Parts: sequence; C-alpha cells; structure tokens
Amino acid sequence: MRGVCVVGTAMSRFGKMSESARESMTMTSMKAIEDAGLSPGDIGAAFYSNAFGVAERQLHIGPLINSALGIGDRPSIAIESACSSSSAAINEAYAHIAAGLEDICLVAGGEKLSHLSTMEATTYFAMGSDYTYEASNGVTFPGLYASMAVAHMNRYGTTQEMLASVAIKNHSNALLNPLAHLRKKLTMEAYKESPVVAYPLHLYDCCPFSDGSAAVVLASEEKARELKDEIVRIEASERAGTAATLQDRRDMTGIEGAAVASKRAFARAGMDAAEVDVAEVHDCFTIAEIMAIEDIGFFRKGEGGRASVEGETAIGGRIPVNPSGGLKGKGHPVSATGAAQFHELYEQLLGKAGRRQVDGAEVALAHNIGATGGSCTVHILRRRR
Ligand SMILES: CC(C)(COP(=O)(O)OP(=O)(O)OC[C@H]1O[C@@H](n2cnc3c(N)ncnc32)[C@H](O)[C@@H]1OP(=O)(O)O)[C@@H](O)C(=O)NCCC(=O)NCCS
Repeated sequence: MRGVCVVGTAMSRFGKMSESARESMTMTSMKAIEDAGLSPGDIGAAFYSNAFGVAERQLHIGPLINSALGIGDRPSIAIESACSSSSAAINEAYAHIAAGLEDICLVAGGEKLSHLSTMEATTYFAMGSDYTYEASNGVTFPGLYASMAVAHMNRYGTTQEMLASVAIKNHSNALLNPLAHLRKKLTMEAYKESPVVAYPLHLYDCCPFSDGSAAVVLASEEKARELKDEIVRIEASERAGTAATLQDRRDMTGIEGAAVASKRAFARAGMDAAEVDVAEVHDCFTIAEIMAIEDIGFFRKGEGGRASVEGETAIGGRIPVNPSGGLKGKGHPVSATGAAQFHELYEQLLGKAGRRQVDGAEVALAHNIGATGGSCTVHILRRRR
C-alpha cells in the first residue's frame, strides 16, 4: 500500500448557520483545497457525507458540490455511516489513494438541522438506531446512552461527578475554540441543576444539535512531500463493527467495535496507546468519552471516570482528549464530525491550535463511532519531516 497523508483541512463555525449543508460543504471544501495549496482541478475523486440531507430535501449531493467547485466531471459518492459518516468517507478515500486508484481526494461532511424542532431532529436521529426494536418503541439516543451509563455505573462505580467532569472539561476546551458551538463555561453547580434528559444523563451530558461542515484533502505520500515541508501521515485507518442493537450485546459498558478498531490501528501503526500525544474521541454523551478512553486503551476498563475527574484527559494532562471541545462543546453536525476531528488533529500536529495547543504533539488519534457503535472508525496520524 502507498503512504497516505493529510494535506489540507477546514471547518465552518459549528452552531446555527444560515447556509444549506450543500453551500457550507462547498465553501469548506474550497478552504481545505486552498489549505493544501491546491486548486479544485487537482482533486481526483470526492467523498461526501450528509446523513440528514433528506431533512433539507436534497440527496445526491456529490455532483452538486463538485459542479459548484468546477469539477463536475470528477467522480463523487455519498457515504452514510450515521455519526461516523465522514470518517468512513476518509477511510474510503485513504483506500483509493493507498491502492493507487487516485493521488488526491477530497472528503467533506456537513449537516443543517437547526430548522428542525428538537422533536423532529430527535426523530430523524433515532432512524440511525434499530428502528424496529429501539426507535419505534420510543428509545432515542439519550435513552440508549443512558442505559450504557447505568451499566457502567453499576459495574465500575462510575459516578455522576465523573460524568460531569467530562462535560466541564469539554465546555472549557470549547471556550478556547473560536469555531465551537457551545462557548459557555460550565460549573458543577450548573451541571447538577440542569434538567435530567434520561437518567443519569443531564442536559450537559448531551451534545447539542449543530449545523456545520468540515473537509479534508488527502494525498499520496509522494504528492504530499511535493506540497509540504512537514507531512502528516495516516499511520492507520481502521474500521470495525459492533452488534447494532443494545439488546444483542454481551456487554454494554464499552463498545466492542471501537476496541477492535483501536487494536487493529495500533497494530497497523506499530505503536501502542501510550505513544499517542492527543486524541479526539466521540463524546456524543459524557459516558461515551469515558467508554472511548477505555476502549482505545488509554485507561484500564472501569478507570475512565476516575481519570477524567482527576484531570488526566485535560490539556496538560497525561493524555489530552478532545482539546477542540469534542462533540459536547464544539458541537456535533453528525456528518461533519469525523472530518472535524481531522481538522483539529491536523492543526494540533502542525502546532497551529492556538490556546488549546497540546505541546509537542507528534502522534494523534481520532475515534469516531456511528450511532451506539455499530460502526467504529479509528485513525492514527503522525507528523513526519
Ligand atoms: C439535550 C437536548 C434534548 C436539549 O434540547 P432542548 O431541551 O430542546 O434544548 P433547546 O434547543 O431548547 O435549548 C435550550 C438551551 O439549552 C442549550 N442547549 C441545548 N442543548 C444543549 C446541550 N446538549 N448542551 C448544552 N446546552 C444545550 C441551548 O443552547 C439553549 O441555551 P440558551 O437558552 O442559552 O439559548 C438536545 O440537545 C439533544 O437531544 N441532544 C442530543 C443529540 C443527539 O442525540 N445526538 C446524537 C448522538 S448519537
């Protein structure tokens, strides 16, 4: 396989936007192409994700964005993998370049949800679960993750304060990120006073509904070396699955596919969890971050809550997790999330993350899951000269 590198990234401001997903994805794609020092004509193929396009009455978004970029003759495809859509798209683009089918690929993901009520958005989101056994019986994502949180609390003694510490850290990191959706300091008092959405998850345990887009340009290592003095190489791009429905799982205190994808990624990269300097993980709910840092292997099973409350995952801690603010603070425009994780990690590895910079970061990990982890993607990036 050929080496594959990240050569450009961009993201829009997350939150409420006036543009459509299609418009936002086009503008962000153009910024990522410029960041790479390229022009649209250099793109061989494009991979787009817009899981909730139907909420804007627009499907088949690829040729529309390509045409707006002036490359209507290039192949495009839309990839849907719930909340992990754009990291699945990155994995496809990676495979195309590694196999020699293309030299340069564009990946972009975006979503526009703010024109929907909470009820409508929740209903659309629930379509990403098992509609027959979960959504149609009234279980939504806060409820599904609440069930996992209760299982984790019962088995490992994880506490409400431990969940809260994840939210407080990610809100605090988001305050350092000018593109984040929720730029609001969170205190333990405000957390405790906030309404319960699905026990034990309070309002501040949940990510918000966000609009936004993010884009990534990938190139073969040979091309990347022509474009950049310092390269960011994808050392591993691995995917794995988990039984889709919670009732079919042996264990609800972790996500099996995330652990498998992490193990494969470390094996592919020839390194272990202790070598990672910074990570962006899928914290759609606070319990999801605790499970993620255990599944990846940053902490032993049952230790994620303690590590979070003791500040080991803060910027400056043993392994900084979600310096961008994560899904919780930066926001979660579903299909943009995987590409936005890449944007943060690319900036971190190039030392361009401003006030949230993790000093000396050389190895980064992105963990992105779809729904309750039916689809899991883990990428490892390394800065090289
Ligand atoms: C938690 C949730 C139910 C709150 O929705 P809501 O009660 O309708 O909240 P509203 O949109 O009316 O917002 C009320 C206030 O809370 C804030 N807010 C909303 N969601 C928030 C969140 N998740 N975290 C922090 N603040 C939030 C809003 O900014 C608003 O603040 P303001 O009054 O200062 O403007 C909703 O955000 C949610 O369902 N999130 C989970 C999304 C999800 O499942 N994603 C998929 C994951 S797999």
